[in-house]
Amino acid sequence: MRAPNAQPQPVGGLARRLAHILTTRGIDPTSTPQGGPEPVPALLAAESRIPARYRGATADHPAVAAWVREIAAAGRPGPGGAPGIAQGRSLLIAGTTGTGKTHQAYGAVRSLIGAGVRLRWKAVTAADLYADLRPRPGHDGERELRDLARCPLLIIDDLGAAKYSEWTEEITMRLMNRRYNEMLPTLVTTNLGMADLRAHIGDRVASRLNEMADKVILDGPDRRRPHAAGRRHPAAATA
Ligand SMILES: Nc1ncnc2c1ncn2[C@@H]1O[C@H](COP(=O)(O)OP(=O)(O)OP(=O)(O)O)[C@@H](O)[C@H]1O
Ligand SMILES: [Mg+2]
Repeated sequence: MRAPNAQPQPVGGLARRLAHILTTRGIDPTSTPQGGPEPVPALLAAESRIPARYRGATADHPAVAAWVREIAAAGRPGPGGAPGIAQGRSLLIAGTTGTGKTHQAYGAVRSLIGAGVRLRWKAVTAADLYADLRPRPGHDGERELRDLARCPLLIIDDLGAAKYSEWTEEITMRLMNRRYNEMLPTLVTTNLGMADLRAHIGDRVASRLNEMADKVILDGPDRRRPHAAGRRHPAAATA
């Protein structure tokens, strides 16, 4: 049995994997990080949950970086002294295809963890969210909705991209209303302009988002197109 004040430790395969990654990066896995705020194992564990394409993402947009600082500063100390995510403002990142919305969202998670914030977070695309929550035998969608509603930081990627129905509007409303009521930070990305988003998610969700979220509009080129400014090839990134 674990002593009441002991911190949860990575176990088994995860611990071995982390030790291996640290060793390959020239870091002694048994050493304690010195001098900097970055909890390396926490960042590595989080990186393993971030999709490969965004594992090195940086929140380099000034407004996203400012939001990260605000959330980090509002954290309250948790067990072990590291600040945990508390109530905070949400962030809506809007922009056309390929402007870097998902990159900024995962970059924000990485920055928060790098800043030493203890972070329970989930990321889901709106389309996957509705697919996961669809009523089906043997699956407790209500429980999953509750978990998402309570998660300290939730990323909803591509809001407005899934096919609309009254049911999707109701699910979005129930999820966002709970997070709005509890003032939990939610990071939303969308390809839609505000008028189209309002039409897609309904007035009541749009009204809540409007109050709870800071807005960032990414208006650059599609970074997936060859020669787009700032496009980074994985090979170039590691060269
Ligand atoms: N600031 C950045 N620095 C380097 N690479 C970036 C940056 N922003 C985005 N990219 C890269 O550009 C590509 C497109 O970015 P991303 O997937 O975040 O766009 P998006 O706006 O989410 O697109 P969509 O609307 O289609 O979902 C990805 O390969 C991503 O890694
Ligand atoms: Mg995206």
